[in-house]
Amino acid sequence: MSTIAIVGTQWGDEGKGKIVHLLGKEADGIVRYQGGPNAGHTVVFDGKMFVLHLIPAGILIPKKICYIANGVVIDPFSLYEEVQLLQKRDITVAGRLFISELAHLIFPYHKILDVAREESTAQGSRKIGTTRKGIGPAYADKVERTGIRVIDYLEKETFEELLEQNLRLKEKFLQKFSAIEKLRKEILDQAKILRPFLKKFACDTSWMLNCAIEKNKKIIFESAQGTMLDIDFGTYPYVTSSNPIAGAVGSDCGIGPNKIDSILGIVKAYTTRVGEGPFPTELKDEVGERLRQVGKEFGATTGRPRRCGWFDALVVQRSVRINGITKLALTKLDVLAGIDALKVCVAYKHRGKTLTQFPNSRTILREAVPVYKTLPGFKEIPKDAKKWEDLPGTAQRYVQYLEKLSGAKISFVSLGRSRDETIRLDKSSLWE
Ligand code: IMP
Ligand code: MG
Repeated sequence: MSTIAIVGTQWGDEGKGKIVHLLGKEADGIVRYQGGPNAGHTVVFDGKMFVLHLIPAGILIPKKICYIANGVVIDPFSLYEEVQLLQKRDITVAGRLFISELAHLIFPYHKILDVAREESTAQGSRKIGTTRKGIGPAYADKVERTGIRVIDYLEKETFEELLEQNLRLKEKFLQKFSAIEKLRKEILDQAKILRPFLKKFACDTSWMLNCAIEKNKKIIFESAQGTMLDIDFGTYPYVTSSNPIAGAVGSDCGIGPNKIDSILGIVKAYTTRVGEGPFPTELKDEVGERLRQVGKEFGATTGRPRRCGWFDALVVQRSVRINGITKLALTKLDVLAGIDALKVCVAYKHRGKTLTQFPNSRTILREAVPVYKTLPGFKEIPKDAKKWEDLPGTAQRYVQYLEKLSGAKISFVSLGRSRDETIRLDKSSLWE
């Protein structure tokens, strides 16, 4: 086996960045396949903290090759800033980052449209609680066939023609927020710097990846967000505008689906969500506040406090099924230390009926009440815990219970932000 897809099983922020950073050591290449600068991957090592939005966490490991695939929407300005920031901190990017020519770009007008939609009070409008990074409008243009891809941006005349087309199409709406003249000038001025910048990284990543796989190179496909934010399988319409699920790796990277050897799900020991939308196990009490403070549950991209709640087995079971997950990495177990009784949602009650599967109906989801099983908590996790035996018995029981409920093997337990605060339970290599 030489390829692994790493996916989020909840509403994002499960700790994918840390696990990619951990497993990236063993890989040759790391690929981001969907989403855009809405993502925030926090990685801590050698006492330094990095927050990445577009570039895979693998860039922090010397010599690893990183790819941004065609399924990603790229804000060229935010990519430029991210590269500058990494270089300032002595991380070499040149020669190690490859960007798909087919990826679509986010422009300032996408952000204006995103914010306008979020703030609209018009009848029937719905607040999603987006990151306001222009993700939805950029993917909408892609599907509408008016989008501008990296390759289009690199061809000056093609780009200017497409920009005009887009400004004309959106003018009626955009001019309420910004003078079109000003917007055009801003985008064209930025292009003078951003075009040569993007040119250095742009290539046919599908071709490169297929060659790498052919040579048996070890590749990690890293998702952004989580399964419950998936445009098809998430809590629609409170979702992101792409497919974070493993099934999307093929079309988002231009490789055959039979080239993905294994799928690792990242799951937090409790649940969080940012933005609006249903969240059956949400805690609006002091336990929720405690999880937020101890777990530092604040958005890495927007700084918003994350909503926190108990572990929801129905969510994770759905994710295991939809993604084809066989192994899990359980993160942030340490955050639960000191809570006397730990609750785990094992079913929902709805109008007298017991539901054992995550429902698709918006109404049922809004009204569903969690059915909990309560487990004894654990006082603390030793700071130097390195193996399973170092965990308190009650913590072991909690992990075993989650494994049984989830239907996939828990292969890693993460107890802190840095790579060495991880217990590897599965001794066999993930690549075998
Ligand atoms: P968008 O992706 O900015 O359009 O936001 C749509 C929904 O996805 C909102 O609820 C966001 O809070 C959520 N979201 C987007 N990216 C992330 C992420 O990286 N982590 C957690 N939630 C996210
Ligand atoms: Mg995040």
